Amino acid sequence: MDAELRGRFIEGMSRAATFVAVATTDGEAGRFGVTISSLTSVSADGAHPSLLACVHQQSPAAMAIMKNRAFCANLLHEGQQGLSDLFAGRSKPAPASRFDAADWRPGPAGQPMLTGATANFECRLATALLWETHFIIVGQVTSVWLSDEPSALLYGQRAYRRAVHLVPEE
Ligand SMILES: Cc1cc2nc3c(=O)[nH]c(=O)nc-3n(C[C@H](O)[C@H](O)[C@H](O)COP(=O)(O)O)c2cc1C
Repeated sequence: MDAELRGRFIEGMSRAATFVAVATTDGEAGRFGVTISSLTSVSADGAHPSLLACVHQQSPAAMAIMKNRAFCANLLHEGQQGLSDLFAGRSKPAPASRFDAADWRPGPAGQPMLTGATANFECRLATALLWETHFIIVGQVTSVWLSDEPSALLYGQRAYRRAVHLVPEE
């Protein structure tokens, strides 16, 4: 790998502000969660709506999603940066369970839905592709819960952000 190319790639991608989600899963492999900025809508018009996420193959959450065959993408509210840090392993000392820091309820399919998230997308695992370091995980959305507070937490230029309204150009 060309180190300079890698550095320019990381710097370029850091300029793309993304929303932040915690992908959670529960089932026979246990309950896990991980912070992701790779959540992306794929299609609203298939047999089910679908989305994708890229999760490092060494994340315990990735292996659990493969085994549980289901997950929930919890789109964080702008007031939830502490939870983002927690599920990214940035909180010191690390708590015994990341899940103790927030309220959860099971979705219709039993996946952990974060209370206070701006939206929760419960998914059945449709397919997953291991691409070098990360699993590209495609979920068929089976239920969506929407908060009355739609402002999502953003991450860009290595900091948490919120979206601001721009006045249209003349
Ligand atoms: C804002 C933010 C976005 C992240 N996005 C991703 C992602 O899309 N995929 C991923 O694998 N890791 C992502 N991470 C890193 C993981 O959250 C982190 O490496 C992981 O939680 C390490 O702990 P774990 O593997 O024990 O869960 C992100 C971290 C932060 C802070």
